Amino acid sequence: MSADSNPTVFVLNGVNLGTLGQRRPEVYGTLTLKDMEKLLREEFPRVTFEFRQTDHEGEMIEFIREAAGSAGIVVNPGAWTHYSYALHDALEAVEMPKVEVHLSNVHAREEWRRRSVVSPAVDAVVAGMGARGYVAAVGYLISRYGER
Ligand code: DQA
Repeated sequence: MSADSNPTVFVLNGVNLGTLGQRRPEVYGTLTLKDMEKLLREEFPRVTFEFRQTDHEGEMIEFIREAAGSAGIVVNPGAWTHYSYALHDALEAVEMPKVEVHLSNVHAREEWRRRSVVSPAVDAVVAGMGARGYVAAVGYLISRYGER
């Protein structure tokens, strides 16, 4: 991280992720999005976080555009991962480092979850690490920021 400026990182959670904590805790864990935000802010006190969730695809695309010029995006698109070409194209169109995160190991679940149409448009993918995956993703973005 460069000494003179704080990086801004966008953490974007998509469809159905607003119910984290209640939704299938055996798969997605017991942390809520609020808990996750707190964890990230504690873990990275020098990062300015833009922490967002939406169930609307168009709004997610607006968030991605808004992130232009930031240090990077951590995105968990939820089920959009598996079919949203619009999200793929929005991510492909912005220049900053991007990490796709999944709380669960999508490769160990239903067949249809193994395919991500978003992955070709991001730099890295993390799956199956729960909330730790978000911490790892932000750590990666910060290390990339430090290289600039
Ligand atoms: C998810 C995995 C997706 O398949 C699913 O539709 C989600 C959450 C995850 O974080 O593990 O909503 O992205």
